[in-house]
Amino acid sequence: MGALDGRPEAEIAAALAEYRSGARPASVMGRIAKGFSEDESRAIAAYLSRRGPP
Ligand code: HEM
Repeated sequence: MGALDGRPEAEIAAALAEYRSGARPASVMGRIAKGFSEDESRAIAAYLSRRGPP
């Protein structure tokens, strides 16, 4: 189980949006997040939030 599995979708999406805009300080996530479009970031957040222990 990954560290983000089951975290609220809105939380993950907000973190990715802030990394993308630079609003959230980051060492590597800014660079990674800028590689995804808004739609892709939302899809990733939805996917991770729906994961969890079996
Ligand atoms: C699609 C892939 C990824 C997603 C969706 C993702 C998502 C996230 C999220 C949501 C956080 C915030 C966690 C929190 O505040 O609790 C975070 C932080 C972080 N992630 Fe990722 N991550 C991804 C890939 C990676 C990779 C490949 C690395 C390392 C090579 C990485 C390194 C980090 C680091 C170091 C932080 C802390 C903030 C920083 O200093 O940049 N992430 N990530």
